[in-house]
Amino acid sequence: MPRLLVTGGRGQLGVALSRYADTPGRDDLDLTEPASIAAALEAYTPEVVINAAAYTDVDGAESDEAGARAINSDGAQSLAVACRDRGIRLIHISTDYVFSGEVPRGGDPATAPGFEPHDPTGPTTAYGRTKLAGERAVLTAYPEATIIRTAWLYTGPWRVILDQPGGDFVATMIRLESERETVNVVNDQWGSPTYVGSMADQLLGLLSAEKAGSVDARGRTLHLAGGGRATWFELARAVFEFLGADPERVQPCTSEEFPRPAPRPEFSVLSDRSWRDLGLDPLGEWREDLGPGLTYLASSRNQSSRGSARDRDA
Ligand SMILES: NC(=O)c1ccc[n+]([C@@H]2O[C@H](COP(=O)([O-])OP(=O)(O)OC[C@H]3O[C@@H](n4cnc5c(N)ncnc54)[C@H](OP(=O)(O)O)[C@@H]3O)[C@@H](O)[C@H]2O)c1
Repeated sequence: MPRLLVTGGRGQLGVALSRYADTPGRDDLDLTEPASIAAALEAYTPEVVINAAAYTDVDGAESDEAGARAINSDGAQSLAVACRDRGIRLIHISTDYVFSGEVPRGGDPATAPGFEPHDPTGPTTAYGRTKLAGERAVLTAYPEATIIRTAWLYTGPWRVILDQPGGDFVATMIRLESERETVNVVNDQWGSPTYVGSMADQLLGLLSAEKAGSVDARGRTLHLAGGGRATWFELARAVFEFLGADPERVQPCTSEEFPRPAPRPEFSVLSDRSWRDLGLDPLGEWREDLGPGLTYLASSRNQSSRGSARDRDA
């Protein structure tokens, strides 16, 4: 493996890559401070940088677009310039929210083809606009950089098991399963649930294939997200099922019934063709990645409740 540095080291992707990379947090490498970027690159001397740092508060960005832009676009550009000037390979992580969220060609979201990298973008959220500006700024400053868009990223059960701070949709559903009898979840937004551990593995696979000379992704924009598609409701039901809970406790609702400051895309499924075209294996179907961590969590909870019952009886 090349010597790797991942920005945003305390975030989901940073933590998932921390066994294989230097993963400075914002206090060590702040994208809004070019001097901090330069100091970190000099200190860690990476061969490859993955930019996983971002302003990811999608609702918060609606009232703080300048703050989001400073990190997602200006900060990404500063990093690209610093990597270019040092000859460091750069992989910049972006998002499905760069698309408008409309179903392509007015089709059925359950069957319409997922977005390809070259499909027209047109984000409707401040977060999406700043991330798209970031993609363009990175490629303008450093045309050999690679943009990798992902979607609906979660750490899920491992966040609970390892007691990691922060939240994601799957981790929230795990918590709500233990707190509420029923949960209403929107069933009219379609996307590509992506387990962050599998995404990390794929990124490492790409880097080792590049190091071996069998793949060259420089200058490309690629999609890397869980296979298949789901609505948030379907994802929530699957979480309950894998936990051994009654999935009927998850009830469908519409986006209108659950308004958010940032309008969520109706459709942001990502096609895996660009990844397969490189000769790399795509991520598996999203359910396959979701299951193991949740069944492990459910069985460890069962064991500990059996242990507590034994202690009580003794
Ligand atoms: N999460 C998703 O569902 C999703 C979906 C599609 C694409 N993505 C993209 O995937 C990438 C990784 O996402 P993630 O879920 O791992 O994000 P995350 O968990 O929110 O982590 C982002 C990290 O970036 C750090 N950061 C913020 N501002 C920074 C700055 N100025 N300098 C350095 N670090 C800074 C944050 O630090 P603090 O904790 O100190 O704020 C945080 O640790 C991002 O590019 C994101 O846009 C995510």
